[in-house]
Amino acid sequence: MHWTTDQSAPSVGHVVITKTRSPIRSNVGLKAVMAVTGILLVLFLIVHMLGNLKIFTGETSFDHYAHWLRDIGTPLLPSTWYLWLQRTVLTVAVVAHIVAATVLARRARAARPVKYAHRKPVRGSYAARTMRWGGVIILLFVIYHILDLTTGTLNPVGDASNPYGNVVADFAPERWYVTLFYTLAVVTLGFHLRHGAFSAFRSLGQQSPKGERRARSAALVFAVVLCAGYLVVPFAVLTGLVS
Ligand code: HEM
Repeated sequence: MHWTTDQSAPSVGHVVITKTRSPIRSNVGLKAVMAVTGILLVLFLIVHMLGNLKIFTGETSFDHYAHWLRDIGTPLLPSTWYLWLQRTVLTVAVVAHIVAATVLARRARAARPVKYAHRKPVRGSYAARTMRWGGVIILLFVIYHILDLTTGTLNPVGDASNPYGNVVADFAPERWYVTLFYTLAVVTLGFHLRHGAFSAFRSLGQQSPKGERRARSAALVFAVVLCAGYLVVPFAVLTGLVS
């Protein structure tokens, strides 16, 4: 918080002092934080989805790819340094995304503490109304997923040298409930992305009903493609296409 002088405010012959927020804490600043961190997370999601699809190229190729992930940046950087840099950036992005969303939601509630007496509540799309709980479910899923496929703690095989084997063991037909859980998490992610992408496209595009319709369709296509790209892997294992 800092102080500025507001020459335009009504005054009685002297300058009125008003309180303003530092730019990053203003609503616009927080929305920019949401957008920048959201873009970083989406970029990771796109690359991770494409990487997962390498499972269809066979065990050797997939394991080679997974080991290469640890060596990105070598020999300039020592092995795994890039990976840890990426993990740090993603963690900071997730925390900043959640903090900015929470502050914005609190401010929106504080601005209208008493409900309108005679107005029907404005109902946004299903995706818009489920952003908060969707976000919580996605966070819990990511924690489970890291313990499952990165550390191997919750994986039936958990062999760090054989990520292909870990994925195949994870989504084996008798463990159908794991695929079900992943499906629910990925669909939740899809709704979250659809609304996030819609807000971003709408801000960038034409501010007209036509522009809004286009933004809505583009966001839907993006979310469906990403969901399908993720879900095809567990379902390929479940159905025996990948074994
Ligand atoms: C549903 C299909 C998915 C599959 C088959 C899958 C597969 C994997 C595998 C095999 C790894 C370990 C990579 C390695 O250490 O070599 C991994 C790591 C990870 N996945 Fe996924 N994933 C899926 C979905 C997701 C989703 C939807 C998210 C995010 C919302 C996600 C976020 C992560 C993260 C953050 C890591 C840790 C990366 C690191 O080690 O720094 N994954 N995933």
